[in-house]
Amino acid sequence: MQRRKFLKNSGALTAGMLTTPIIAATDTYTNNPKPRTNVSKATIPIAICTWDFGNATAKAWEVLSLGGSSLDAVHQGVMVEENNLDNQTVGNGGRPDRDGNVTLDACIMDKDANCGAVLAIQNIANPISVARKVMEETPHVMLVGKGAEQFAYEQGFEKTNLLTEKSKKEWEEWKKTSQYKPIINIENHDTIGMLAIDKNGDIAGACTTSGMAYKMAGRVGDSPIIGAGLFVDNEVGGATATGVGEEVVRTVGSFLIVELMRQGKSPQEACEEGVKRIIAKNKDKQDFQIGFIAINKQGETGAYCIHPGFTYRTYTDEGHVNNPSGSYLKS
Ligand code: GLY
Repeated sequence: MQRRKFLKNSGALTAGMLTTPIIAATDTYTNNPKPRTNVSKATIPIAICTWDFGNATAKAWEVLSLGGSSLDAVHQGVMVEENNLDNQTVGNGGRPDRDGNVTLDACIMDKDANCGAVLAIQNIANPISVARKVMEETPHVMLVGKGAEQFAYEQGFEKTNLLTEKSKKEWEEWKKTSQYKPIINIENHDTIGMLAIDKNGDIAGACTTSGMAYKMAGRVGDSPIIGAGLFVDNEVGGATATGVGEEVVRTVGSFLIVELMRQGKSPQEACEEGVKRIIAKNKDKQDFQIGFIAINKQGETGAYCIHPGFTYRTYTDEGHVNNPSGSYLKS
């Protein structure tokens, strides 16, 4: 039988900040001993993002430290990864679907619950910027496919070939053995989700991805779905997800985590509960990757993931920290 171990957040966020209290407890899902929770006494402003996207949180911090809004911070922060051609899971340079087309998903949400999203958009390097335009310039929340692309051109975005030579070569290799079957590939889900609180205490979030590599044409995951890949309630906090989008959609994961925080859970407790609900519905599945990060109104952060070595990035005025989060190991 599989044994699951959740190695949770470790230690202090950074020198000078309060350390995580290590209280003996048992993980209710795994029965493994674990530290109680990550109660990171972060200062505000703050930006956090999924994975080790240090340049992205640094950019968000630049915006926040100049007095910018959390909305601008998350927008500009995630754009760093959309523009990073070496990142094959987000934006320009992302891996294509099984037909060789790069299709991108993104959404953004502000302190007033305004939100915008684009789904399966092609030929546009910064889907998060189009999502923001949807939010600010249209009466709608979501635009999909050709309609989203057309809207982007109307807003002045340039047509861009998003398929890099590297991603093209890998896709051609994949085709040789894949028999054109879409797969749930756990290694290709390094979606960037980012949450920030600005100097006014207002929360915003953004999430952007190229989605599952070699997916079926038209497949959309959780990342552009408000409530699944991202949710912000400025009275409570925000959450965002990475991993197999189908599973996050099934549980409306980010909304769930914000609601759990509303009910009194810490961000860490809420993320753990969200992941465990997904695991509980997937006991038969061997390998899949799901992770959430969350922040509450006080600037406390949390993260939990079923993936070895999952990290998330925090940036506060005390520094830029890579926080190891819960991970799942088979034995
Ligand atoms: N979480 C990204 C996706 O499943 O598309």
